[in-house]
Amino acid sequence: MPEFKRYLVNIDSNSTHQLFTDCLVIGAGIAGLRAAIEAAECCNVIIVCKDTLENSNTWKAQGGIASVLNKTDTFESHISDTMKTGCGLSDEGVVDFVVRQGPELIEQLLRWGTEFDQIDGRIATTLEGGHSHQRVAHAHGDETGRGIAEALIRKVCEKPNIKIIEHFYTVDLLTNDDNECVGVIGHDKQRPSGADQIVWAANTILATGGAGQLYRETTNPEVATGDGIAMAYRAGAIFQDLEFVQFHPTTLYIAGASRALITETLRGEGAVLLDSEGRRFMKAYHESAELAPRDIVSRAILAQMLETNTTHVYLDVRHFDKEHFSKRFPQIFELCEGFDIDISRDLIPVRPSAHYMVGGVKTDISGRTSLRNLYACGEIASTGLHGANRLGSNSLLEGLVFGKTTGQLACQHKETGVVHIKHPLIKYQIPPSNRTRLDAADVTNSLRALMWRNVGITRTTQPLSEAQEIIVFWQRYVMDKIFDTPQGWECQNMLTVCLLIARSAQMRQESRGVHFRSDFPNIDDEHFKKHIEITR
Ligand code: SIN
Repeated sequence: MPEFKRYLVNIDSNSTHQLFTDCLVIGAGIAGLRAAIEAAECCNVIIVCKDTLENSNTWKAQGGIASVLNKTDTFESHISDTMKTGCGLSDEGVVDFVVRQGPELIEQLLRWGTEFDQIDGRIATTLEGGHSHQRVAHAHGDETGRGIAEALIRKVCEKPNIKIIEHFYTVDLLTNDDNECVGVIGHDKQRPSGADQIVWAANTILATGGAGQLYRETTNPEVATGDGIAMAYRAGAIFQDLEFVQFHPTTLYIAGASRALITETLRGEGAVLLDSEGRRFMKAYHESAELAPRDIVSRAILAQMLETNTTHVYLDVRHFDKEHFSKRFPQIFELCEGFDIDISRDLIPVRPSAHYMVGGVKTDISGRTSLRNLYACGEIASTGLHGANRLGSNSLLEGLVFGKTTGQLACQHKETGVVHIKHPLIKYQIPPSNRTRLDAADVTNSLRALMWRNVGITRTTQPLSEAQEIIVFWQRYVMDKIFDTPQGWECQNMLTVCLLIARSAQMRQESRGVHFRSDFPNIDDEHFKKHIEITR
């Protein structure tokens, strides 16, 4: 990385507005909210989030949350499906730990008010690719994420010892000389007098979510720019498996409109993929056809688009009962209607897009990172559950389990609580630079297009090298500047994370899980049945 900066902004902790807490949670998706609820059992908590509590990947989740909820299903089967999908890189101890907690934590969500859809008084479940049993629970049809988030937000709001700060852009994790995390510096848009704010924390839980916005095409909301990854990298945390970026096969493709997820559970319930000539093609690629693993479906769609020289393929749901469809998939029904797609007559145009960061900040089975007092949970964390690929709907489950676990850790560390933190004096000054200024918005757009072209679904050496060269070039003109708005910091963070992904993808000279190298199309257990770790 050229001209590495520890912090993105100048800091003088003596003259910056300060808050103090036992436990700071950064992010308000399922993992962050669940962590805050748990930590609030024993200590004071502050949750900061970049936008509002409602703007998260969790809120947008459609398909559901996977767990063993049927009598015919078993923990062993869920464990085995997860291990198989992880292609040799999942940690069986972690998989076991997560899977076995599923039913209890989902029951708890039900008690807290998530209206899971039910049949005969039991939680209804459906199928997604890679699951050998129906185990995907859903709420309000395809509005599962909203159903879960609303219940957790209500719970958080009931707790008098949780303070919520929305519109807080966390710029950096603060560390002391012993490399312990001691809190964050951020930008509080809502503070009237000067927005810089330090939050000193005895425990910091990183739950910043995903990074889909690194790609031109994504299912993720605008806030998912990978800031958590970049700030943890600057702070010195260890990362693993950043090359594993999951692409969702079916995103609504309407030129000019922003992409929207079309849930895999549609295929689980019988939707089929057709190419532009009306041919059902998935059977030619995998015996499980539309329910093959996501990476296989995504690559098959790309191949079919290339063969037919088109920008998309189609999902065919014309055989669904329209009335049933509108109730089972209300969000998608409304979305289609908005574009005059009559699902009983018309095909739904779709193509793949970036969906989920499989790799992330390396944690142990409790969510501890390599930095003291810093924990990670949810999509930002690489706990060992997903390995080289993520089984659909295992992510909400992981967020729930590790949210709870990291919240408990904060409780265990209560004795090192806020009164005991040694607040270091932090003074950090970035030298002025008179190098040419690039337009951050322009760089961000070009970067997203570059990632899509060169570090996308199919990768190979030359484009990966070129991507790194171009990113390093942009970094030279962007990383030396001091920005005072989120747009600039996001651009700096995105450049950092994209370079880490491209480097990791270059290093893994094999194809495994969601990482496909056309120059190394096979799995290579001899050299690569291991994690690729990166640290500053
Ligand atoms: C979907 O509904 O297809 C997405 C679910 C997931 O990514 O786990």
